[in-house]
Amino acid sequence: MDVSCTVTEQTRYELRCNECGKSFGNRPLSACDDCLAPLEVQYDLESARSRFTREAIAAGPANIWRYKALLPIPEGYQPDLPVGFTPLVRAKNLGKRIGADNLYVKNDAVCFPTLSFKDRVVSVALANAQAFGFTTVGCSSTGNLANSVAAQAARLGIKACILVPADLEAAKILNTQVYNARLVRIDGNYDHVNRLCTQIADEYNWGLVNVNLRPYYAEGSKTVGYEIAEQLGWKLPDNVVCPMAGGSLIRKIRKAFKELIALGLVEPKEVRFFGAQATGCSPISQAVKNGWDYIEPQKPNTIARSLAIGNPADGPAAAKMIRETGGWAEDVSDVEIVSGIQELAESEGIFTETAGGVTTAVTARLYAQGRIGRDETTVVCITGNGLKTTDALEGRFLAEPAVKPKLAAFDEYLRSVDSSFASANETEEAELELAGGVK
Ligand SMILES: Cc1ncc(COP(=O)(O)O)c(C=O)c1O
Ligand SMILES: [Zn+2]
Repeated sequence: MDVSCTVTEQTRYELRCNECGKSFGNRPLSACDDCLAPLEVQYDLESARSRFTREAIAAGPANIWRYKALLPIPEGYQPDLPVGFTPLVRAKNLGKRIGADNLYVKNDAVCFPTLSFKDRVVSVALANAQAFGFTTVGCSSTGNLANSVAAQAARLGIKACILVPADLEAAKILNTQVYNARLVRIDGNYDHVNRLCTQIADEYNWGLVNVNLRPYYAEGSKTVGYEIAEQLGWKLPDNVVCPMAGGSLIRKIRKAFKELIALGLVEPKEVRFFGAQATGCSPISQAVKNGWDYIEPQKPNTIARSLAIGNPADGPAAAKMIRETGGWAEDVSDVEIVSGIQELAESEGIFTETAGGVTTAVTARLYAQGRIGRDETTVVCITGNGLKTTDALEGRFLAEPAVKPKLAAFDEYLRSVDSSFASANETEEAELELAGGVK
């Protein structure tokens, strides 16, 4: 199964152990057989210098494949799904509310094709699954990954078997089933599901994107970092606030920034990373706050189900990295998560899922605590779409009785429910009268 990459157009890469540095070539494997540490894709960065330039990137397609030279894509593979390159929007209104003058939202709530940043990781993982010859793929998932594996496997014509905790939101279940994937609900939490998937990967010859293909999968998250830098005009922000579940995304955004610095695409700068979790599942934020170099596993209990990983694979490394950069981690209650969703929707017109509620609420707290200064440039990573977790808002917006299709009935209704509309209308009338206008 060793598919060593000896590509000319592509940068040479291979799997290496994070701890002992042992090389593993390219194969479906996620941990070192000597020290059990996670494996990571390493590139021959020097050979990328001529290929990974601002000009070459600008000439590429408006999606993640513009960064193909620093992604682990097997030789000859021609990716054609326009994933990523999501908007980076200036968030002035949200900034005003929380005391931030230079706030940006990286909006992966509108990532193609399944409305979360997981589309990035899945497209890279499935490129490798195909190169390794897998005819069935799958994953253990807290929801968004399930949606993306199901959709992209359908398009590639590969069979998919997806395992999720039984209590997932209805929309995330439906958004997996619609692609005709085999969805298996497991009677347990994500950590039970993931342990089972590790056994399945050994027993069945399947490519499980976040298990035996995890090193390749994780590299897809780097594209969030490349895009942020490019969209800021090839500059790095002062801070990034990022939700954490397994702890992979936040680390990979930093890896992207480091690669851009190493290749001279941006000025060197130590960006501070801030992790966001729900209090009901906060193993990484607890490790950061307590200065631990280990993770104390938790039993998740939060509405932010997409972040509900009690024993995160990249947790220790994420906590260490956050502290190294001078950042911090915070966690927020379920009530604050719902307020965060509402706050982002009302101020910026962006409807995010519970994970985005976590990130928004944590960002507000970091400014309130003075951990982030008002003038600093901060990018908030919104990673998923609110239409998938409408359950979190249940009961907040009740259906009003129907109004008769008559102007008088409409007038009366509006006066009874919202005096701000009525008074605006009256002001307009008064102004018209003053101006001698005819109504
Ligand atoms: C919407 C959303 N945001 C963030 C994350 C966290 O990603 P990671 O596991 O890389 O920390 C997930 C993971 O499932 C997610 O679904
Ligand atoms: Zn090792």
